[in-house]
Amino acid sequence: MRKIGVLTSGGDAPGMNAAIRAVVRKSIYHGIEAYGIYQGFSGLITGNIKKLEIGSVGDIIHRGGTILQSARCDDFKTEEGQRQGIACLENHGIEGLIVIGGDGSYLGAKALTELGFPCIGVPGTIDNDIPGTQYTIGFDTALNTVLNAIDKIRDTATSHERTFVIEVMGRDAGDIALWAGLAGGAESILIPEEHHDMEDIAARIENGVQRGKKHSIIIVAEGVASGAEFAKNLTEKTGLETRVSVLGHIQRGGTPTGFDRVLASRLGAKAVELLMAGKSGRAVGMEDGEVVDADLLTVLNKPKHMNQSLYLLSKELSI
Ligand code: F6P
Repeated sequence: MRKIGVLTSGGDAPGMNAAIRAVVRKSIYHGIEAYGIYQGFSGLITGNIKKLEIGSVGDIIHRGGTILQSARCDDFKTEEGQRQGIACLENHGIEGLIVIGGDGSYLGAKALTELGFPCIGVPGTIDNDIPGTQYTIGFDTALNTVLNAIDKIRDTATSHERTFVIEVMGRDAGDIALWAGLAGGAESILIPEEHHDMEDIAARIENGVQRGKKHSIIIVAEGVASGAEFAKNLTEKTGLETRVSVLGHIQRGGTPTGFDRVLASRLGAKAVELLMAGKSGRAVGMEDGEVVDADLLTVLNKPKHMNQSLYLLSKELSI
């Protein structure tokens, strides 16, 4: 392995820069040239590729977003686009590719692997919805961003004795909502993985009000409903005055937490090690504190994990 390429794809996530830095520095440390592919898989079609030096990734470990930029590329879903991408990599003499992103990005990596080009997937998404790893790069930062917002909303909710509905991201997964709701002491957490009973939610809030609670915070994962839609139903049911906050893309930005930087550094370095060992079609991850790798296809086919015990705990603690 003399030349390695790296790209970020799909929704950006805090810590992606730390992962890029790890890939570049680990490669150079071992005498391998590193190339950045810009704007995700579209950069493979347009040939937007540049050699990265040690200094190219200096001063980025603490920055959110991705210096390589990201994109969701429809052309790359076709075999023609994928073959074009491989030709582009080969023209640059690149022998292995590291793809940092979510499940859509993994599909691209899988397609290239099946066409014979060595690829390794690194899980980077705030959604924490990639099988094969307990944590994805960016999740911890997004969790803390949401938590920060919940704490602030709680201040105003208490002052006005209001019920707040906070809509958070996560696509079809509920981890951001679940973890932030548990850590933020939310009264109710709605996630796509669990069934919800409006009667139960309304009863919990009404009981709280009767016991003298000054506010109620309900976290709704975007995969369940929009915050506005849910709040409307709740008001119709309970007559309670509600306010809605949609946190939106704020959740995707910001300085990565220490956890995300360490995770990204370890996973990025592991991806390089795998390519150096001649491996292909693998996805790296973190399980019980250890860096692991698994077959990319197996990972893609596994059901998405959700921590059931955390959900039950949140129910017990939010009485
Ligand atoms: O996958 C990350 C994510 O932020 C999801 O949580 C969200 O549903 C989606 O991306 C938003 O995508 P876009 O930035 O394309 O609107």
